[in-house]
Amino acid sequence: IVKYLKDYAAPNHLVPKVDLLFDVQNEYTDVIITLHIEPQNNEKTLILQGDAKLLMIQLNGERLPETAYSLVGEILTLPNMPTVPFTLTIQTRVFPEINKSFNGLYASDGNLYTQCEPEGFRKITFHPDRPDVMGVFTTEIRADKQKFPVLLSNGNKIRSGSLPDGRHFAVWHDPFKKPSYLFALVAGQLVATSDVFVTKSNRQVAIEFYTRPEDADKVAFAVESLKNAMKWDEERFGLEYDLDVYMVVAVGDFNMGAMENKGLNIFNTKYVLANSQTATDSDFEGVESVIGHEYFHNWTGNRVTCRDWFQLSLKEGLTVFRDQEFSGNRASRAVRRIENVKLLRTHQFAEDASPMAHPVRPASYVEMNNFYTMTVYEKGAEVVRMYHTFLGEDGFQRGMKLYFERHDGQAVTCDDFRHAMADANGVDFSQFALWYSQAGTPTLNVSGSLQNGEYILDVKQILPNTPDMPASEKKPMMMPLAIAFFDENGKKISFRQPEHPAVSNTEQTETVLTVNQSEQSFKFLMNANTVTPSLLRGFSAPVYLEFDYTNKELALLLAHDDDAFSRWEAGQTLFRRAIAANEDALKNGEMLPEHTELMDALRNVLNNQDIDPALKAMLLQVPAEAELWGERDNLNPVLISMAREALLEQIAHGLHSELLATALNAREAENADKRGKEIVFYEYNPKDAGLRSLQYACFGLIHRFDEIATIEQVFEYYDEMARKNMTHEWGVLSAINHNHDPKRDELLARFAAKFDSQALVMDKYFMLIASSRRADTLAQVQAALNHPRFALDNPNKVRALIGTFARNVPHFHAADGSGYAFVAQHIKKIDEFNPQVAAGLARAFNLLQRIEPQRQALMRAELEQIVALPNLSKDVREIVEKILA
Ligand code: ARG
Ligand code: ZN
Repeated sequence: IVKYLKDYAAPNHLVPKVDLLFDVQNEYTDVIITLHIEPQNNEKTLILQGDAKLLMIQLNGERLPETAYSLVGEILTLPNMPTVPFTLTIQTRVFPEINKSFNGLYASDGNLYTQCEPEGFRKITFHPDRPDVMGVFTTEIRADKQKFPVLLSNGNKIRSGSLPDGRHFAVWHDPFKKPSYLFALVAGQLVATSDVFVTKSNRQVAIEFYTRPEDADKVAFAVESLKNAMKWDEERFGLEYDLDVYMVVAVGDFNMGAMENKGLNIFNTKYVLANSQTATDSDFEGVESVIGHEYFHNWTGNRVTCRDWFQLSLKEGLTVFRDQEFSGNRASRAVRRIENVKLLRTHQFAEDASPMAHPVRPASYVEMNNFYTMTVYEKGAEVVRMYHTFLGEDGFQRGMKLYFERHDGQAVTCDDFRHAMADANGVDFSQFALWYSQAGTPTLNVSGSLQNGEYILDVKQILPNTPDMPASEKKPMMMPLAIAFFDENGKKISFRQPEHPAVSNTEQTETVLTVNQSEQSFKFLMNANTVTPSLLRGFSAPVYLEFDYTNKELALLLAHDDDAFSRWEAGQTLFRRAIAANEDALKNGEMLPEHTELMDALRNVLNNQDIDPALKAMLLQVPAEAELWGERDNLNPVLISMAREALLEQIAHGLHSELLATALNAREAENADKRGKEIVFYEYNPKDAGLRSLQYACFGLIHRFDEIATIEQVFEYYDEMARKNMTHEWGVLSAINHNHDPKRDELLARFAAKFDSQALVMDKYFMLIASSRRADTLAQVQAALNHPRFALDNPNKVRALIGTFARNVPHFHAADGSGYAFVAQHIKKIDEFNPQVAAGLARAFNLLQRIEPQRQALMRAELEQIVALPNLSKDVREIVEKILA
């Protein structure tokens, strides 16, 4: 059953107050909810959502006979309710120990946790369970004192004490109205790591991070990150925390990254626990950004929430934008921006080109859990960034201020956000609304010509067909196009825009054009003989850009552009061209071309001492496989992968000495300030992280194609690297992971034995197994399913082993279909207990329509078996049916 945005109707019953009692027993938990209901419009029929065993219902304290209501599926209908305020008390029984969907109330390692967004609250009890029904929650928890010493819920603890039979209780009160999806409860054996944050208006906020006792040595970085985030939100957005306590709980069984429940965040351990022995630099960066993300939700998500789930990007796009800005402030802003763009282009562009394509605000869904997507999150963040680019920081902050003035305490829509941005600045953003309703990645086709000091830039906007809407029905969108021009020496050219009223007489060196028609021209006056335009600077809009650069022009931008994104992008275009040329050569059985311009440009990058190491590492990164698929049809992913590998090998051989020198210099720089100290810890900090990423960008290339020498060397220095930190250990293991020498297996086995008790490091072991290009990878993955530390019901383990395998192009897309069969088999198995994780894996097949016919037939056969299953979840069904359609 499909839900549509256009069918939205305001709720007929409000529930401004909710009282909850959780009575935790051994095999089950009884939940008593009292809803204080305010009927609207004299509505008599009350409809509640619930998917829990219903034990009894009372109306104003009187038990209702079963004839007074009907329960069909998840929908409880009570036809004869009062039209004046009343209370409804409902008792349900839930079974957290056997709940492996990790949705609703579930047990993990003997403790209890909840996940309610978007519709998990109804797995616990009955409620309208829609985000525009908000209330003040008071929650009492009763449980055995020994098994569940810690009892947590949202807000402040107002009472606690002992009960007979070795039990105890705690009562929590959250003074802020909230939707049911922000409810949380945690009970169990946990230790708290505490700290304090003093807000700008001098209020003390208690910070408490709850973990298993053995993990307490890994929370310090997350605690610091939280304090940094709290401070940053005060300084950049003027937003202050509003409760007396901020709690974060880490759990090893969690379907996604983390959840922003009011005052009580629940986190996947992966985004809380990190020390230098168990976490890589990028793990540290992941912790920092997710801690920031969930904290920022307190204002963008909790204080102002979504009217309905179609509006999800209202909070997610905005909060991702905020966490990106926070991370950009912590370390190299330019490098962070490139990483975000790379993520978007690898995964969101692929989603936009797939049967799952949907606008930032979807028009319909079957299972909302399927819409926590790259489009809603990452493209949504780009949409927010475009407001920022149009309005500038001051204008954007004026918009934010008005947004909170108008909507604090409300559940609102993406249009409300857009209106706040427009009204606060007197800008017309009506055309900009198309970003919320038109799916697919636009293409900007740009050309330029110089004549007598006049440069004309012609911009065409091309919108794609998507399954929900043909291109012919789409209207031209409004977007910022940031530009500059370079002369033949790599100097920025100054120019005037004669047709731009505000700045027609101003000399500029860069500007932001407003693109808002399907074809338009922009005129610039300048004194120049040759012009190389730098376009879409900073990735100013989430689009494909076409401009007919020569390789020489790209090399010029790569060498001189002062916008890090455009510089990087020039290199990426050279890489893409080289891979395409390799693909043609491989197809025709010809010699590979030499790519002289690319090699020269890379040599210049490697030898340039002025480039920040982290950026240099990014400049060396060849586009990911999924980025190369673009919107192509009839594609052979294995051939493209081989063409890409061939280029890596050409670079490794052609630039061997430069790569080696760069890596050794970076190592030297990393070691420089650590020498002579008694014990050297290689802790995470952005500067060293950059030096390490450069080392492994280089070593990764060198080691890949020099298997024999490498494995002997690595065997020698593995222990030394492993002693430094996990980034080095991981770097070394990744570099030899495709090696066929038995010593590779030996090193991996040693790694696994050493970290047997560290679940998050074991995930890394499974990732190594599943990402190897070695011929025996599928067999090794199958063997790993029986590893004592593997567990099919743990989402992190499934993602590490099976999810990673599904992204291992030559193996997932093996010509005999073995990769497809393996993944499909596990989708079916996992769907029986965890539909969300199964649906996540099913997305691996979304290339179906664009893949060459033989693989397409193999994929299709697997998917048809899946949809034929009688008890298939609606999560997996929605994804697979869309792919097959
Ligand atoms: N709101 C959470 C976050 O972005 C994620 C919740 C994801 N929920 C889901 N059912 N997939 O921080
Ligand atoms: Zn979020």
